[in-house]
Amino acid sequence: MNSADLIARAEQTHTLTEDELLHILTDTQADATLFAAADRVRKKYVGDEVHLRALIEFSNICKNQCLYCGLQAQNKELPRYRLTAEQILALAHKAVEYGYKTVVMQGGEDPFFTAEVLVPIIKQIKALGLALTLSLGERTREDYAAFKTAGADRYLLRIETTDKALYEKYNPGMSFENRLRCLRDLKELGYEVGTGVLVGLPVQTLRSLAKDILFFKELDADMIGLGPFIPNPQTPLKDAPAPVLEPSLRVMALTRLLLPDINIPATTAMETVTPDGRIRALQSGANVVMPNVTEGEARLNYALYPGKACAGEDPSKCRGCLTAKLYLIGRTVSTGYGFHKRMPRNGIIV
Ligand code: 5AD
Ligand code: FES
Repeated sequence: MNSADLIARAEQTHTLTEDELLHILTDTQADATLFAAADRVRKKYVGDEVHLRALIEFSNICKNQCLYCGLQAQNKELPRYRLTAEQILALAHKAVEYGYKTVVMQGGEDPFFTAEVLVPIIKQIKALGLALTLSLGERTREDYAAFKTAGADRYLLRIETTDKALYEKYNPGMSFENRLRCLRDLKELGYEVGTGVLVGLPVQTLRSLAKDILFFKELDADMIGLGPFIPNPQTPLKDAPAPVLEPSLRVMALTRLLLPDINIPATTAMETVTPDGRIRALQSGANVVMPNVTEGEARLNYALYPGKACAGEDPSKCRGCLTAKLYLIGRTVSTGYGFHKRMPRNGIIV
């Protein structure tokens, strides 16, 4: 097998087998070829516009114990916060002021935010004319249905890893089947569904990452967000090796080759690991950035991992900063909502 041939074929057919994916993931010499092919596919299918999604991190309280995550319940060192409905809405108003068209409400699995509490917030955000993405973890089908009826458009729930044993090791008390159930419910309810994985978890293999990419295709995801696992000193995985960017870029670029028209963010974790990580991601298949509009203490305390890029920045500056950086690489900020547009692939609509 020759990586360049496989990449050239995938650029045309958007298919690769698990072994072929593994071959490319292993071949670090193929990076330039892979990233350039993913960049061409991105341009052909989703164009040069970059969609900006304003992130509101509304609660860092979480009932779960994910071994990699700084928000996990057993982390007693983290000061906890929960924004009020008024605070969340004020941030959504600011997102409109800054010119964003999508708001992403992200939080830990905080039992305070029942459907009863969330539905009025969702309705009020939707009344501002924004597209709304939710990222609040595992809920019942009834809750997902209630959020959808209230107007939510999209939902992000990373599978984190498709290796069931690894998933259950790193997410104690959680079940892989329930995670899958959530993703299926969200699809059936008509959400645009985003998922994704952590890259570089201890004992995760490249074969497992190859399977993750095939899972994205099987799920027919609308969005895939992924990034390097960054060890957090306040978690059990604190002594894991320092993260690197390239493996995430490889998984992301291969995802672009196989799912050519989906939305793929250049993630904050990528920027945290390498100062120009997001720009490199945007040149290797990504077409979305999620600037954080959360303010004050909350902005600092949504600490999934240490050194989060832009945590100390003033959120009113992000749009200008990003627009300038995008201009330098020949890209523009989208003025639309940036929904997933399914494109014909070689004349066939799939
Ligand atoms: N490093 C990188 N990403 C992390 N996440 C959680 N903890 C970490 C970490 N230590 C990611 C998870 C989650 C998303 C919101 O943040 O993939 O789904
Ligand atoms: Fe909150 Fe994992 S620690 S969902």
